Amino acid sequence: MALKLNSVLITDDVDPKCIDILKRNGVEVVFNPKLAKDKEALLAELPRHDGLIVRSATKVTADVINASNLSIIGRAGTGTDNIDSVAATNKGVIVMNTPGGNTISAAELTCAMICGLSRNIGTACISMKEGRWDRKLFMGSELQGKTLAVVGLGRIGREVASRMRSFGMKTIGYDPLVSAEESAAFDVTSYPLEELWPLADYITVHVPLIPPTKNLINGSVFSKCKKGVKVINCARGGIIDEVELLEALNSGQCGGAGLDVFVQEPPKDQSLVQHPNVLATPHLGASTTEAQSRVAEEIAQQFIDARDGKSLFGA
Ligand code: NAD
Ligand code: MLT
Repeated sequence: MALKLNSVLITDDVDPKCIDILKRNGVEVVFNPKLAKDKEALLAELPRHDGLIVRSATKVTADVINASNLSIIGRAGTGTDNIDSVAATNKGVIVMNTPGGNTISAAELTCAMICGLSRNIGTACISMKEGRWDRKLFMGSELQGKTLAVVGLGRIGREVASRMRSFGMKTIGYDPLVSAEESAAFDVTSYPLEELWPLADYITVHVPLIPPTKNLINGSVFSKCKKGVKVINCARGGIIDEVELLEALNSGQCGGAGLDVFVQEPPKDQSLVQHPNVLATPHLGASTTEAQSRVAEEIAQQFIDARDGKSLFGA
């Protein structure tokens, strides 16, 4: 079934390839990233467009969807948690994403976080820039022989596991949709969560933010982990409970956290970001030229294919 797609509004920073492909295919495009933070202006602009393309800054809530005449919403990225999919479905609006386009970039940032935490790279760098030469303060530990627990064995989780094995880490994991046999085939030993926590030196989460994964790692989980366990969240803010993470960092139960994502972005409360054992980045998982080029091309082509009744791809 073909779809009406005369005009598309883009309200987040998306690679220009997206605009080129849409325009080459006869679609009018309005690119205005300022609308991501100006809801009133977004609501005023939206009704004349059939399609909307966003990344994470635009919050496509039920009232936004209901005030629109959209037939399709696209996320130039993976997670669609900033789009109210229930409201979209109720209104007959298609929601699609570009799963896979930024997998390698997100996996590589996660691996960089693990390496950075193991050798205090962030804090040592800040200290040198402040003119100090604090060699004794930054004793690290090797990754070889340590255990990495990967929670969520989808696209990114698997890529992280395979890369960190090349550092000599043991990889264990959990995913309700991946059997022990399947994970063994890509060299991750599967455990139920309760058995996973005490084994891990590092825990990295690669799950969507959905009700069962909200605050999945919390104070009770930290109490079951080895003292000094390190955690990495390059998935979504809120999968690790931020308040209980701070408590665990302050008590030393958590020895370090690599955080690319936050419940509030940018985070108003700077307690985690400023903590000496936190390595923080401003949601950079997909911020590589390669990933941005891929997701921009993919979402534009998927829109055109949907318009032409060729295929519907994505979430
Ligand atoms: P994916 O769908 O390939 O994998 C997610 C996996 O999580 C699935 O295998 C699913 O079965 C599993 N899962 C669901 N509920 C679970 C639970 N309760 N416990 C354990 N596992 C569970 O997704 P992906 O492409 O690997 O992306 C993972 C996450 O990373 C998404 O939230 C995505 O938005 C986020 N992401 C962030 C960035 C960034 O810029 N930081 C970039 C890309 C993706
Ligand atoms: C995603 O889910 O793909 C990420 O949050 C990447 C992004 O769009 O910045």
